[in-house]
Amino acid sequence: MSLIDNARAVRENAYVPYSKFKVGAAIRATSGVVYVGCNVENVAYPEGTCAEAGAIAAMVAGGDTRIAEVAVIADCPKPISPCGGCRQKLAEFADGDVVVTLTTTDGIVLQTTVADLLPGSFDADYMSRV
Ligand code: THU
Repeated sequence: MSLIDNARAVRENAYVPYSKFKVGAAIRATSGVVYVGCNVENVAYPEGTCAEAGAIAAMVAGGDTRIAEVAVIADCPKPISPCGGCRQKLAEFADGDVVVTLTTTDGIVLQTTVADLLPGSFDADYMSRV
């Protein structure tokens, strides 16, 4: 199964009573293990937790901390755009050149990278004078 097929499958489990907008994400860790996540909303915070954040949490819980590849899928007019918080979370665990495949359920594909999603990101180097 391709990484995008993993994302497509887990998207079906999204818990989205508020937005009705299902998102699926899949991460291949550098170990080769694939971790998946879907968005999960709740009444107090209707925006809930993004699919990407869910996949990252599953990866860390599974004992991996480095990302080799990411895929995200949703039913939109153009490929899904990860939120700012998820871009920062991806940058925490992935090198800048890691490929992120963003797709629509009807097959429009945009391939980008973690660095292109979060240009000029803050990293530990900025604190090197401390
Ligand atoms: N959402 C994601 O899960 N990933 C994205 O990349 C963008 C947005 C979710 C959060 C919320 O459950 C719903 O989509 C609407 O914002």
